[in-house]
Amino acid sequence: MKFKFTIFPNSKSASVFLAHKIADLVKAQPQLNLGLATGSTPLETYQALIDLSHDLDYSAVNTFNLDEYVGLEYANKQSYHYYMLHNLFLHLKTFKLANSHFPTLDHDYDQLIKSHGGIDLQILGIGTNGHIGFNEPGSSADSLTRKVQLTATTIADNARFFADQSLVPTHAVSMGLHSIMQAQKIYLVAFGKSKAPIIKELLAQQQFDLNLPASILLEHADVEILLDEAAASEL
Ligand code: GLP
Repeated sequence: MKFKFTIFPNSKSASVFLAHKIADLVKAQPQLNLGLATGSTPLETYQALIDLSHDLDYSAVNTFNLDEYVGLEYANKQSYHYYMLHNLFLHLKTFKLANSHFPTLDHDYDQLIKSHGGIDLQILGIGTNGHIGFNEPGSSADSLTRKVQLTATTIADNARFFADQSLVPTHAVSMGLHSIMQAQKIYLVAFGKSKAPIIKELLAQQQFDLNLPASILLEHADVEILLDEAAASEL
């Protein structure tokens, strides 16, 4: 099995491409269920989506975020709730905040997604250690939404968003690999030189490797990987 991937000249052109795909789906399917990611990678996609949103109706769209830190107030600027509100939701005039969903420790997120009919389109970033969502190396193929412990690599990577590394949460709630695999269509996006080594490793995989969680996507029928030239520089 092989991954389908496209190399764009830069992150902006890849993000505009993805935003158009999403906007087209919202138009065609107003009750779309969107699976959303956080981190720096999707920021330009969200901006492009906002720019495309003027004549689009988001009122029946439901969103399902991949993960959230444990132990951060939602009002904390580093929480994924805050990120989504300020980088997307508050800028989509017709979007209803009640239709946005995040995994928590106290409800069955996989069941909630199922009861809405499943995720139609899932956006994923990738960690430098190959994680998707917060499924760190060692996550099993049948993992569902659960509390996870973050690895030292992830804590160090995410420290750039916090005043001090000691403030980075050590745990998160994340959709599992099995949960992610239920989406109809998946776009995995990677930008920048820091992602080049893991992208090289991922594209060389032939089958799921427990040490590289994103390799589970080899078993999905409809995955596209979008890269900028920097992330593709070791291919
Ligand atoms: C974070 C998130 C992931 C994200 C990844 C990459 O820890 N939990 O969902 O895809 O790491 O982040 P970035 O896009 O900032 O490189």
